[in-house]
Amino acid sequence: MKQEKGEAVAEVTEAQIAVHWKEEEYVYPSAKFIGQANAADPAILERFKEENYPECFKEYADLLTWDKYWHTTLDAGNPPFWKWFVGGKLNACCNCVDRHLAANKNKAAFIWVPEPEDEPHWTITYQELYRKVNELAALLTKFAGVKTGDRVTFHLPMVPALPISMLACARLGVIHSEVYGGFSGKACADRIVDSGSRVLIAIDGYYRNGRLIDHKAVVDEAVEEAKRQGIDVEKVLIWRRFPGRYVSKAPMVEGRDYFLDDLLKDYRGVKVDPVSMPAEAPLFLMYTSGTTAVPKGCQHSTGGYLAYVAGTSKYIQDIHPEDTYWCFADIGWITGHSYIVYGPLAVAATSVMYEGVPTYPDAGRPWRIAEQLDVNIFHTAPTTIRMLRKAGPDEPKKYHYHFKHMTTVGEPIEPEVWRWYHEVVGKGEAAIVDTWWQTENGGFLCSTIPALQPMKPGSAGLGMPGIYPVIYDEDRNELKAGEGRAGNICIKYPWPGSFQTIWGSPERYIAIYYEKYCKDKNSRDWRDWPYLSGDAAVQAADGYYRILGRVDDVINVAGHRLGTKELESAALTTEEVAEAAVVPVVDELRGRVPDMYISLKPGLAAGKAIEEKVKQNIVKMVGPIARPRNVYIVPDMPKTRSGKIMRRVIAAISNFADIGDVTTLANPEVVETIRKMVQGDEVKPSQEVPDEIKKFGAGD
Ligand code: PRX
Repeated sequence: MKQEKGEAVAEVTEAQIAVHWKEEEYVYPSAKFIGQANAADPAILERFKEENYPECFKEYADLLTWDKYWHTTLDAGNPPFWKWFVGGKLNACCNCVDRHLAANKNKAAFIWVPEPEDEPHWTITYQELYRKVNELAALLTKFAGVKTGDRVTFHLPMVPALPISMLACARLGVIHSEVYGGFSGKACADRIVDSGSRVLIAIDGYYRNGRLIDHKAVVDEAVEEAKRQGIDVEKVLIWRRFPGRYVSKAPMVEGRDYFLDDLLKDYRGVKVDPVSMPAEAPLFLMYTSGTTAVPKGCQHSTGGYLAYVAGTSKYIQDIHPEDTYWCFADIGWITGHSYIVYGPLAVAATSVMYEGVPTYPDAGRPWRIAEQLDVNIFHTAPTTIRMLRKAGPDEPKKYHYHFKHMTTVGEPIEPEVWRWYHEVVGKGEAAIVDTWWQTENGGFLCSTIPALQPMKPGSAGLGMPGIYPVIYDEDRNELKAGEGRAGNICIKYPWPGSFQTIWGSPERYIAIYYEKYCKDKNSRDWRDWPYLSGDAAVQAADGYYRILGRVDDVINVAGHRLGTKELESAALTTEEVAEAAVVPVVDELRGRVPDMYISLKPGLAAGKAIEEKVKQNIVKMVGPIARPRNVYIVPDMPKTRSGKIMRRVIAAISNFADIGDVTTLANPEVVETIRKMVQGDEVKPSQEVPDEIKKFGAGD
């Protein structure tokens, strides 16, 4: 570090992100879990050893049914555009549906739970799914005129229509592109335009937090905005939340908008042969979740992707045919694509889908669903876990369910929150996997193998079988396990689930993910092309990786780069605190100082004593350098509809900067409350702030 006395801000690199985290104790899975696990034999580690790369992934590919077997496991002839299982042909829909009919025709593929508690569940068997997918596939070709290789955009919430639409496209070799249902019309339009979709599949309305949302109105905005950007959506196919009853106020546009439930009557019982696709044909696009930057359409392959999600569903999610598996995420994110739809269906699982929010009508809802359906594998994100811990810390105890396995995904989980998840939600019985990965990656990159490696709260664990992570500093030095230094976590070699490119922007794909650490641009050896994740991480002496968050989201206090997660974890050790979010504030002397925002567990009153305790805990756990300038106790954090805290918004408030558009938040009203709390009643003109503050939290 170049920091001198009196110097305001020092230039430091990611390699110097301060790490003060205390090592946590191991937690071991139960003998009962180990006794039944799919991966209980350490031989799996041998099979996926580095010397067996890339052939080790044959094991995942062999979980699939191929129309034509592949001849080359990995073709690295044009790096970094990797091709997996070359020469092979298969159909993803056939692998997820058709091939299960012989043995599992009457088994539930999905159990859909509507948000209103008095509305019955819909159990969709593999046979029913097969029928619905075929009928829609027939309609898409004959009525909508889509062909293999075309793109079709969806703007759908958590309803069965979404996986049915995905599988119908997959059946035809049509590339689907789902836009998260909670996104604005503008966000949807940008994705329609980028992918060049002429057909949009959407729904009239859906339930969210007790309200029937008029979604068709948003869909109309999307189509109009796409038109302004030069793309004419020719057909808008609308599912109805209640077939036969239209719940939106937005008029149907003649010659453009059609009700799918009406049209499908003409395709009753029609079958469509699945199109046999090359393994490397694109299966879908998934735009990265950043809400401010230009969206990147991550293009995922058919064979490599499906093999990877099938393999990780089997070994890491430990799904067995008799399990009831519930991934409580949204299919509008990669987690839902991989671990609600494609992975579980590829291994013939029963996958639960829930329409609504975790706390509707109360914080006991998820546990009632788990009890009713006898869910035994539960998968969700720290943000949901924190929300449920805040709203109903004792609710899980009231319900008679038993999870054998649980997953956390999406952001680093604070050890305090992890312990609540383990002890209260998992009743101390469930093995937990903390799976680290990204939209770009298709499936898990780091996690423990649940029966073979102990858990460590807050740590993702080791590289997955066949995944070789490495941490580099800015000068491409490899940081070693136990060194206590953080850097850029990269993956040494490609893996089958990795995206193939950014749709329409191969240069951006190379520039963002491969340029920084490429050892030789002319090399055709995959060993020269490590993948840059953009996350900061540190490797403990035991080899476990701890993810510190996005490299861009560190706070540089007087030359010390502090990981936001580390500060938030320290705040969360304060008993009263339910949620914490830290942001950088421009400070003349120290460059940046942290402002900490917290919300409290229910029934507690804000007070100076709590603020002081939070400060002390941060000082104790991270150091005096990290002492927040202010601790603000807010009624709620500004959140996206998917529950992510919008640090960008609070950073703008703390810095008196332009707050930007907040209309798409789940709780826009809280923004003004927080602004007044921080800035006072009077609205002052916004200040110019450094770029790094403007961009802070952009990936949230
Ligand atoms: O910073 C990492 C964080 O989420 C980012 C990826 O977000 P997205 O593409 O939306 O995909 C989320 C679902 C896979 C990563 O760059 N992240 C994801 N999982 C974890 C995590 N951070 C820490 N621990 C995790 N388990």
